[in-house]
Amino acid sequence: MPSYQIAFIPGDGVGQEVSIEAEKVLKAVVEKHGLDLKTTEFDWSCEYYLKHGRMMPEDGMEILRGFDAIFLGSVGDAKKVPDHIAATLVLGIRKKFDQYVNLRPIKLYPNVDTLIKTATPETVDMAVVRENTEGEYAALGGFFKQGTPDGVALQTAVFTQKGCERVMRYAFELAEERKRSGTRPGMVTNCTKSNALNHSMVFWDQVFDQVAEDYPGVTRDMALVDALAMWLIRNPEKFDVIVASNLFGDIITDLGAMLQGGMGLAAGGNINPEKEFPSMFEPIHGSAPDIKFKGIVNPIASIESIRMMLEHLGEKQAAQDVERAVSWTLEEGRIRTPDMGGTNKTCELGDAIREVILK
Ligand code: IPM
Ligand code: MG
Repeated sequence: MPSYQIAFIPGDGVGQEVSIEAEKVLKAVVEKHGLDLKTTEFDWSCEYYLKHGRMMPEDGMEILRGFDAIFLGSVGDAKKVPDHIAATLVLGIRKKFDQYVNLRPIKLYPNVDTLIKTATPETVDMAVVRENTEGEYAALGGFFKQGTPDGVALQTAVFTQKGCERVMRYAFELAEERKRSGTRPGMVTNCTKSNALNHSMVFWDQVFDQVAEDYPGVTRDMALVDALAMWLIRNPEKFDVIVASNLFGDIITDLGAMLQGGMGLAAGGNINPEKEFPSMFEPIHGSAPDIKFKGIVNPIASIESIRMMLEHLGEKQAAQDVERAVSWTLEEGRIRTPDMGGTNKTCELGDAIREVILK
């Protein structure tokens, strides 16, 4: 039987609260399936930064290297540490562990309200595959004459053949897999902006067309990112798999979260598909330090991240159990956090899902 070591980094704000629920649900499936799985918690956060002057210890990455997967709650507390410094924790792990796929499924569960009229469980079932290690997030650039009236800032986006190709292959393979499962048409939409970004996105499109040639069973689609934002609202049913650059993927997945009922329900995986490094799973919502420990944050996004983690580890049965329990609990609708129009606490929703798993 395989044994798993899981690192938990609750982080800041509500990240700490949702981590408790994520771990609760993970422990429930571990118990049910008799898995050999251990969790270890790390207090790396803005609080840690205030004490040590860094977001994680110097050998933090070496420590994480020994784990099979990482759960991250959420990082950031602008009252303590500037956001662009706090974000180095998550961005650093994504890059250093070559988690080049940021997989963000967008699915509306039955009986979950959204603000968007076109969104129904039948119309919203897609996956965004976001490039996660380069592009607009390459962190290349600098300042010139900063602090003077002639101040300049440069931020350079980097698109490499290898970087584009591998994430696009992942998207096409995912579309093939979804098609095989029988429910989806097998289509990849290229999220681009090659009408205006005449170098980076023209290159991106070329790589997309090259990669598409190898997947004749998958329909090739494209949309400029601005129009895509409009189409996501107007005709969500049009989408299956979307592949996007780092920044575009970031933006359209917040929009996607609204299709699936809000930020509290949106999960993501930062995946190194070759499993050369551990992958990291996280809710895509922020840390919202102002509502920390009020018991009002929705734990579904974190619990869904655990489902994705189990799937990545190859524990399909356990992943399915989480999915069924989430789906059943949401559909029943008895326990709801305030963002879903209910009055229940974060921990009550976690408990309810735990009970369904163990039943
Ligand atoms: C996300 C977040 C991060 C990102 C921030 C915290 C740097 O918005 O995971 O979507 O931009 O990738
Ligand atoms: Mg984001």
